[in-house]
Amino acid sequence: MPESQTTPALWINLFQSHDQPGLPLRERVCAALRGAIRRGELGQGARLPATRVLAADLAISRVTAEAAYAQLEAEGYVTRRVGHGTVVSIASPGWQAPARVAQAAATLSRRGAAIVGTGGCRDPLVPRAFCAGSPDLRAFPVETWRQITARQLRSQGEALMGYGDPQGYAPLREAIAGYLAQSRGVRCDAGQVVVLTSSQQALQLLAMLLLDPGDAVHIEEPGYVGARNAFASAGARLLPAAVDAEGMAVPARAARLTYLTPSHQYPTGATLGLARRLALLEAAQRDGGWIVEDDYDSEFRYDARPLPAMQGLDRHGRVIYLGTFSKVLFPSLRLAYAVLPPALVEPAVKARTVMDGHSAQLAQAVTAEFIAHGHFARHLRQMRLLYASRRALLLERLGAAGMDWMTPLPGAGGLQLAVRLPAGSEAALTRQAAARGIATPSLSALYMGERRQDGWLLGFAALQNEEIIGAVEALAALRPDA
Ligand SMILES: Cc1ncc(COP(=O)(O)O)c(C=O)c1O
Repeated sequence: MPESQTTPALWINLFQSHDQPGLPLRERVCAALRGAIRRGELGQGARLPATRVLAADLAISRVTAEAAYAQLEAEGYVTRRVGHGTVVSIASPGWQAPARVAQAAATLSRRGAAIVGTGGCRDPLVPRAFCAGSPDLRAFPVETWRQITARQLRSQGEALMGYGDPQGYAPLREAIAGYLAQSRGVRCDAGQVVVLTSSQQALQLLAMLLLDPGDAVHIEEPGYVGARNAFASAGARLLPAAVDAEGMAVPARAARLTYLTPSHQYPTGATLGLARRLALLEAAQRDGGWIVEDDYDSEFRYDARPLPAMQGLDRHGRVIYLGTFSKVLFPSLRLAYAVLPPALVEPAVKARTVMDGHSAQLAQAVTAEFIAHGHFARHLRQMRLLYASRRALLLERLGAAGMDWMTPLPGAGGLQLAVRLPAGSEAALTRQAAARGIATPSLSALYMGERRQDGWLLGFAALQNEEIIGAVEALAALRPDA
């Protein structure tokens, strides 16, 4: 059959009236023809005009017409053979793109349902009074970071753009091992360090690797919701252990894993005493359990040096030590690390490749240089002083405002201050504070059981002095008995 010598008026209309004039010409031709085929206006076997004819009739270039036909052929709408021209190859009478796609119900696996059932947790996008847990990003040495980034890109740009070692960029692992040995008493070499995106990823990875559904896990009460979520989503049986002024009480029962924040208990700020540390290590060795030591913010002790990490006391390789750069550098960096007993390194690295491969190489290289050239130590020193002064100001203003209904807990460091509130008052006070634009993260939400106490976590580190003063004034106007 000879090719059509003219383009049907219908197509010319379709092409001209096609309602996406912003699209490239080739796409408009394709869209017009696809539409005609789907609606059955062009049936199977129909022959399209030669590209020369189409180009002339639509006033487009022949190259564009050729490209449109080639695209439709690649999509399976037409076939093209020398001597036979271009022919519609599918029959789809009356097929229309649905106006609305029906939404299928989300049927989740049991594991998926357990993950979603935790409720997840989100951090505030923009720090404001008194959101908890954010460092002061306004005080970050952005210019130094920019210079190091430019230098790293110049000196090893291509190498940093490829896939990286799933265990982590070697110079960063060296820098982390050196820092931990010197400042936290952690005994490790770079071969035991695995670089991850966050403590949260570390917790999820450990839950996947070490826990079966029903396994017992000791967690602090009150404690970190991120850890609770990771273990609960693996189907673990969570056993809350009371926390007092000396940190987590040593549980009597055995568990497969014990999660704790011994240097600076989250959220009370208590330090775990030496006797309890030794007892927990002993119990882990006896029961074949793991201890996960989350050392998330011990750098921010303002009165004295923090106790060295529990990991340094471990003689049997039962402690997994976690640290994060979210607080000491900035959260969106997405870099954290686990120091693993040697036998767990290979399983963890394999599991990491199943999750997401590795952390961003450029960020790791910049962080490694930032540490190696002394910027990290300097930044920490400066932030420790800054946050200590903000904490002192917050305590002083809370005291001066005569809010006898609020009791600050003594914990000596961190980025937020835990305060207790009269029993039963947290929800109403939180609503009153929110009405004045003040966020007051819940303390009671960090409990799982009957020990629940009302209170708040007042994040102060990211706030400048006048912001602290203004926010305390707003709190002073609240009425616990309203
Ligand atoms: C106890 C504890 N661990 C870890 C983290 C967060 O670390 P990442 O951002 O690396 O998940 C937080 C954040 O608030 C925390 O409170």
